[in-house]
Amino acid sequence: MPKAKTVYVCRVCGRRAVRPLGRCPQCGEWNTYEPVVEGPEKGATGAPRGRTPVPLAEVPAREAVRWPVPMPEVARVLGGGLMPGSLILLGGDPGIGKSTLLLQVAMALAQDRKVLYVSGEESAVQIRLRAQRLRPEGAFPQNLYLLAETHLETIVHGVDQVAPQVLVVDSIQTVYQPDLEGVPGGVTQVRESALRFQQLAKSREMAVFLIGHVTKEGVLAGPKLLEHLVDTVLYLEGDRFQTFRILRSVKNRFGPTSETGVFEMTDRGLREVPNPSEVFLAGRVVDAPGSAIAVTMEGTRPMLIEVQGLTSPSPYGQPRRTAIGLDPYRMQLVLAVLTRRVGLRLGDQDVFVSVVGGLRIQEPAVDLALAVAVASSLQDRPVRADMVFIGEVGLSGELREVGHLAARVQEAAQLGFRAAVVPRVLSSRKPRWPEGLEVIEARTLRQALRHALV
Ligand code: TYD
Ligand code: MG
Repeated sequence: MPKAKTVYVCRVCGRRAVRPLGRCPQCGEWNTYEPVVEGPEKGATGAPRGRTPVPLAEVPAREAVRWPVPMPEVARVLGGGLMPGSLILLGGDPGIGKSTLLLQVAMALAQDRKVLYVSGEESAVQIRLRAQRLRPEGAFPQNLYLLAETHLETIVHGVDQVAPQVLVVDSIQTVYQPDLEGVPGGVTQVRESALRFQQLAKSREMAVFLIGHVTKEGVLAGPKLLEHLVDTVLYLEGDRFQTFRILRSVKNRFGPTSETGVFEMTDRGLREVPNPSEVFLAGRVVDAPGSAIAVTMEGTRPMLIEVQGLTSPSPYGQPRRTAIGLDPYRMQLVLAVLTRRVGLRLGDQDVFVSVVGGLRIQEPAVDLALAVAVASSLQDRPVRADMVFIGEVGLSGELREVGHLAARVQEAAQLGFRAAVVPRVLSSRKPRWPEGLEVIEARTLRQALRHALV
């Protein structure tokens, strides 16, 4: 009988080596070698016995059944439901609402299945108090179990005892294996624990949620380290001082990525927002200069948002430019185009732009609304209140096409807007515009501004 021995296997490409290699010569990834103990049960070649290859045509075409998630905004982000056996990472800044969200999800799922919520951050009493806040009328599901524990083996034992279908680990940074080197939250501990939960998920057909904190630097032993290892990566984002939260999928083996769910943090936990455009526009002051409505895409969903701009004579030689919720580089670019191609005098002005509601918008399709908001403030002329603005601004002052134009215009029409300024569309690609909304195609930013300001 061959003796048990340790070999090292690349997690990415499966190459084997007798010692851990810094860089895999086969796939080029760094630090991917992990020890695998090969016991006497292994085959004669030393390769572990396990599954055998199957012809593609004989693999069942049916996807495993997803478990329904009774929170529609969460279900949408997961790609329609929860895959049994999947490992899901939820990242986000401390205090953003990760524990709140997953406790709500746990309570909702526990109507139909057994759920174990493991917390290394809070005591069972604290979690109970939070649950009471979420459901003041009481009525907790019988199938939801709590375990306040950080020791991995004890957690695994808890899983054996409860045999849950859904496991929540809050957070992966607190899970600890004393026989491993490294501090809790360190690279080794986090990765080894996550691998263990991955095995548990697959072997028990259990869906596992791991919470991971993102630190200020965004690096950390946490979400980034685990992204390749898990099936699904979700981020909960928002401004802590604002009430809106966006749940975003950045990776999903079982569904579309860049899908989003929108929530509002209330005193009874996160409330789902099925109609974000209406909510984001709720506080708008019509006819005030410096406000323009953009239509941004969050995944497959168009969303109307208010972009505000404020210009103010600069008391210093070096005027200030501040962007909140928008890309500062795109703001700089748009301001330069307004100066050089439209002829606005912005050189002696402080400029502030922001997105209302605490959202963070990266896409260039909001350029036009940003430009309109700034021009409106500078000239102290309000923007047409029933108009939306869609388009990327190019360096020559031209408006450039953006994706999903028809869906964006449709959303504006649905919310009662009467006009949309958009980039010129090639006639062969012209969609059918919705009734009751005038679509104005503008070739340049200058033309667009002429239609925008009253
Ligand atoms: P939490 O879920 O603890 O954040 P994380 O796990 O991401 O660190 O929630 C953080 C904040 O949410 C906390 O400051 C309190 C607030 N909160 C509410 O406003 N309403 C609520 O019902 C709950 C449970 C929390
Ligand atoms: Mg927490």
